[in-house]
Amino acid sequence: MTDPRFVALKALMDVEAGGNSSQVLDIYLKKVKPRDRGFVTEMVMGVLRWRGRLDYAVAYLSNKRLEKIEPYVLNALRLGIYQIEKMRVADHAAVKETVKLLAAPWKRAFVNGILRAFLREGVRYPGREDPLMYLTHTLSTPEWKALRWLEEFGLERAEALALYYNSPPPLYIRVNRRKTSPAQLSRRLEREGIKTKACPESPFCLKIVQGNPRETSALREGFYYIQDRASQLAGLMASGLAKRVWDPCSAPGGKASHMAEMGLEVISSDISLPRLKLTLGNFKRLGLRIRVFVADGRKPPVRGEFPLILLDAPCSSMGIIHRAPEVKWRTTPRGLSQLSKLQRELVKALLPHGQKLLYVVCTQEKEETEGTLEGFPTLPLSPPAEGILEKRGNFLFTQPEILQSDGMFYALLTQE
Ligand SMILES: C[S@@+](CC[C@H](N)C(=O)[O-])C[C@H]1O[C@@H](n2cnc3c(N)ncnc32)[C@H](O)[C@@H]1O
Repeated sequence: MTDPRFVALKALMDVEAGGNSSQVLDIYLKKVKPRDRGFVTEMVMGVLRWRGRLDYAVAYLSNKRLEKIEPYVLNALRLGIYQIEKMRVADHAAVKETVKLLAAPWKRAFVNGILRAFLREGVRYPGREDPLMYLTHTLSTPEWKALRWLEEFGLERAEALALYYNSPPPLYIRVNRRKTSPAQLSRRLEREGIKTKACPESPFCLKIVQGNPRETSALREGFYYIQDRASQLAGLMASGLAKRVWDPCSAPGGKASHMAEMGLEVISSDISLPRLKLTLGNFKRLGLRIRVFVADGRKPPVRGEFPLILLDAPCSSMGIIHRAPEVKWRTTPRGLSQLSKLQRELVKALLPHGQKLLYVVCTQEKEETEGTLEGFPTLPLSPPAEGILEKRGNFLFTQPEILQSDGMFYALLTQE
């Protein structure tokens, strides 16, 4: 199985069956030649990001309702249209190679017909004069999310957010300053073809400007950790609040290791043993000794109080849909309310064990932010650098499309 389009189609089917796009890609990329890996990744992630728009095009051109099209055939159509519209693939190759993915002659004819109609007639996508249709179909945003963005921010920012989240995400690394300095690491990475740029708000953060930092010897040797700049801000804020911290939702250890690298005494736990094993691997690679245990944060197995608890709560991940685009199609307002309930249980159970609690989530949905914290006493929280985060009362939000980061939320809680 080495045809890149076939591999992309299989990967899309696995994600549709419930898989996580990055994990599915990790498996499938091993099945193609190294030179085809970028092509497969772009097809899979691109189709997932633009699924709403691609489905609009299929519905526009097909005489069958979308629900009546077999998922494998529909994914082949999405792949074909995506290549024609968004990639530098010759039209005839996109059509011919996509049609080849299907065995049954009638399916080939169906896909061929739609792709040729797309080339011949194109699709008239909704324009900005109908903001909801425009965001939902043209910019591939779930309707409930489009409505929220429009209500909260208006069309201009909603459009900017949709475009940002539909683009490949920027990549950042956190320099392990126990082993190296940003300047030294930059030079070392440059020798491996990776160019970086400093982030002004943090002496740990480098932006990847060119190259792939996921497979270097420096990563294996623990010289850095791949972590979004917004996630690094949580560690920076924690380091200004206490010298000893419990991280009860710790896996895979991104923030815990950052805090330990900055000299904080960190205690790490998580409900998931498999994820804690990953965490231990990360700590070892980074050269850190951190105490780890399995625990459900809703039933804290500790006595007494910590100066600080960093609660990086389980959430919808709606702030990282540029990295995990399948999330936006799976999330529903009802699911957000259920997550908020779990987050409230965690806050309620943990708060008596921390003089302060820094609540962090990679989502900006109202249920999981203000909703979760309703009724809990909060304190003002200072951002690590002026002007990089949006303040709303005591709460801090990233503006992801401006900071070029994940969509995150931060709040500081205290006992009554
Ligand atoms: C957002 S992730 C944490 C990421 C981590 N802090 C980092 O920076 O790498 C949320 C974590 O919460 C854990 N979790 C979910 N429910 C939990 C519970 N009831 N108690 C403790 N951990 C829980 C999940 O296993 C997951 O590892």
